[in-house]
Amino acid sequence: MEASNLAVTNPRAALPSSGYPVISKMDKKGATLLLFLVLLAAAAEADAVHGAGQRKEEVAAAAPTTTHLHFYFHDTVSGKSPTAVRVVEPPPAAASSSSPTSMFGMVNVMDDPLTAGPERGSAPVGRAQGLYMGSDQARLGFLQAMNLVFTSGAHNGSTLALLGRNCPLDAVRELPVVGGTGAFRFARGYALLRTRWLDARTGDATVEYDVYVMH
Ligand SMILES: *[C@@H]1O[C@H](CO)[C@@H](O)[C@H](O)[C@H]1NC(C)=O
Repeated sequence: MEASNLAVTNPRAALPSSGYPVISKMDKKGATLLLFLVLLAAAAEADAVHGAGQRKEEVAAAAPTTTHLHFYFHDTVSGKSPTAVRVVEPPPAAASSSSPTSMFGMVNVMDDPLTAGPERGSAPVGRAQGLYMGSDQARLGFLQAMNLVFTSGAHNGSTLALLGRNCPLDAVRELPVVGGTGAFRFARGYALLRTRWLDARTGDATVEYDVYVMH
């Protein structure tokens, strides 16, 4: 190809008497080459701006690790210092046409302790902060939205965000892990919940958590 193909000319000069631009075959080839060179230059500049650091991070993100977390969640709604509080009472079943045992419309906000062992006084692991609300008209079924905030060990300062359906009377419930921060950036996974202790009179409960997370 001759160098003259790359020359930038006054586009008006190419206008025929009809007023419509006519692009010749040679002009198209020249324009394609010019576009290619511009894109090449832009790519080289982007590479120089972001540098090697970003490429390393991209490599790290491409190889996720899987972590299994095991701990106990203590939901205390009774007594003088509850860790979960009722902020909205469910409307009477008759008014909402829902089952009397569904608690449909109830909202509880929690800041529940997480511990390494099943006893309330065992080593603290973190907190479960968020809410659960009655969102099933036929039975006891919650929408549960919470952050697991880790305060000890290797994951101290990191969080996981969980959002899912929790029917607390089922033997096993599964909640999706939808994200995370710190060590858990890019997190996705799931949590399995099993009630280990329940005071049927007050509703206080201890729940075992097995969380499997890729990050
Ligand atoms: C967790 O991290 C915080 C902030 O860095 C620190 O103050 C605290 O002592 C750590 N806790 C544990 C149990 O390591």
